[in-house]
Amino acid sequence: MSEGIELDLNEMPYPPPQNVIQAARDSLEYLNRYTELSAIRRIRELLADYAGVAGEQIVIGPGSDLLLREIVLCFAAGRKAVMASPTFLPTVQVARRFAGQLVSIRLSQPEFSLAKEPLLEELTEPSLVIIDNPNNPTGRLLLDRETVENILDMPDTLLVVDEAYFEFSGLTFAELVAEHANLALARTLDKAFGLAGARIGYLIAGQTFLDAFSTSFAFLPQPSLQAATEALLHPGYMWKNVQSIMYEREGLCRELEILGAVVFQSSTNFLLVRSKTPSLADELRDRGVLVMDVSNQLGPGFIRLAVGTPEDNDAFIRAYRSIMERKGQETIYE
Ligand SMILES: Cc1ncc(COP(=O)(O)O)c(C=O)c1O
Repeated sequence: MSEGIELDLNEMPYPPPQNVIQAARDSLEYLNRYTELSAIRRIRELLADYAGVAGEQIVIGPGSDLLLREIVLCFAAGRKAVMASPTFLPTVQVARRFAGQLVSIRLSQPEFSLAKEPLLEELTEPSLVIIDNPNNPTGRLLLDRETVENILDMPDTLLVVDEAYFEFSGLTFAELVAEHANLALARTLDKAFGLAGARIGYLIAGQTFLDAFSTSFAFLPQPSLQAATEALLHPGYMWKNVQSIMYEREGLCRELEILGAVVFQSSTNFLLVRSKTPSLADELRDRGVLVMDVSNQLGPGFIRLAVGTPEDNDAFIRAYRSIMERKGQETIYE
């Protein structure tokens, strides 16, 4: 565990509840055995119930980033990969390497919205569109239902919507998957469910994606699977934490704005912040608070920070204030 306050990886700051820890612990006695197929079947059913889809549509894997990577490896070679910029970096990196071509559609300032027409205009040849909704690092929702349907109607186009932060945004396109073979949603228990160390991701996948996925993903580590199963049986703990994070997020926004930062509207558990201090992430680290420096994606002065516990957030604000006091009060960027 690192020293200091970790707000750099968009994790849930609250530990799992005792029943989830106990379920993982109990499974340690059977580590000599492969995970039983009945346990895999069970978690797929629980995920399907949770997502409101059929069990056959669920594919599980060790984290949604690896599922996204697998999608790129399966489908991108003969296709144009179309993504937002900026977006979740690991997916871009794998697309850059393995897609026939990569087209990045720059989000438009100042709100970081995704322009629909330039996106649709790209889809004149076989394409794989991957959009994180909400987007990392801006925290903004990029797609609405009409845009999704427009993309799905384009010939020979596959669409993957990365819904890693679904529990915070409340927006999903799960109800479209059964009718659209060319749609898949990537989700995770690593964020809202607070199981980042367990690494459980899943797809809600249309038929084209299901056809491509083997069952090799099924053998996830027992402790992860048992922890995830227990967490899905009692989702109330997760929803309570989501509420706390959203409440804290609004408090953080207010305090940052008072301190002169520009804070972007977020549908996630993190905030994109712009300040006039280019070295902000480094200076916060010197004060024991880790945030993500996203200046290479968005320009000088941009950081992304996860909403933490009230104590974490107070420590962040104290550190931020002390940096600003040293530099003199900021003026807001236009
Ligand atoms: C948009 C987005 N997609 C996917 C992921 C990966 O999540 P997982 O922990 O399931 O690999 C992240 C993690 O930060 C993310 O921000």
